Amino acid sequence: MGSDSGRLRHRLGIALAAAALVGAGGVIGIAANQASQPKQRTAVATAPVETAAVDPHVAAGAQDFVQFACNQCHGFRGRGGISPAVPALTTVAKNLTPPELRSIINHGLGESANPTQPYMPVWGAVISRTQVSDLIAYLRAGLPAVTGAAPPTIPKHQGAAVEGAVAYRGYGCINCHGPNGLGGVPNPQSPDKTIPPLSGQDFRTEFNTDAKIIAVIRSGSVIGKAPIVSMPHWGGIIPPERLRALAAYIKTLK
Ligand code: HEC
Ligand code: HEC
Repeated sequence: MGSDSGRLRHRLGIALAAAALVGAGGVIGIAANQASQPKQRTAVATAPVETAAVDPHVAAGAQDFVQFACNQCHGFRGRGGISPAVPALTTVAKNLTPPELRSIINHGLGESANPTQPYMPVWGAVISRTQVSDLIAYLRAGLPAVTGAAPPTIPKHQGAAVEGAVAYRGYGCINCHGPNGLGGVPNPQSPDKTIPPLSGQDFRTEFNTDAKIIAVIRSGSVIGKAPIVSMPHWGGIIPPERLRALAAYIKTLK
């Protein structure tokens, strides 16, 4: 793993800034309407038509699939077609057991093996047990269509920063870097103990050009093996004009 050690970065300044912000960020929860109660209709003779509706766990999993940007790499409803490096997920539940799926989602799949390609990110510190269970239910159900489970539409003609703000949610950046890039999302095993903010003086000093911001988004930054969460590699996934929009948005953050 010698190739990783050079990329290992300790930034005490950011650790302190992030520590001061702990609690400000955090993972956005799933809307309350996905309450996880299985349908109980035992005594009802004439069940209403919506019995055919998607199981609540499957529906919640479909929302998680969008929230954690699984669709951005694996394609809409896991149908693939985004990058040759990323497999479709349509048959994955036939080949892998639920514990195997849970382990892949929590720990990724060898992020440091090839730093020039997208890899399956480590989500363990960022995603809840329930969210992983719901994702597994969704994969096992064959990734059905679920109303409302679609990525946000990126607005056109409103300027790069607006486009970038929506892309920041659509690519799941918000799960790890917090709303408005405030940081504070725990990453207990990492040197800094939190995922860094994308705002604040230390960030601006280190990432003082669009080129530097875009370079780290494109190539990611492997700071260690799972359970450590690293910056995913987005090269080949996020198109260049959208990378510029993300940089424009990040520069607006205080
Ligand atoms: C940044 C891109 C990216 C994102 C985001 C991403 N994945 Fe992956 N995923 C990959 C890549 C690349 C692989 C293949 C890794 C390998 O084979 O080494 C993979 C593999 C997998 C596999 C194993 C597939 C197989 O056939 O063995 C599963 C399951 C999976 N991902 C589920 C998910 C889920 C669920 C999410 C959202 C929580 C997600 N992925 C988000 C890139 C991504
Ligand atoms: C799975 C969690 C995760 C996701 C999703 C994620 N990041 Fe990161 N990101 C990290 C971690 C961890 C680091 C710190 C890497 C390091 O210290 O080398 C990081 C670092 C960065 C940095 C450099 C900041 C610094 O101080 O090192 C930028 C810029 C960045 N991410 C932007 C983004 C953008 C834009 C997105 C969405 C396209 C995104 N990240 C998605 C975890 C994530």
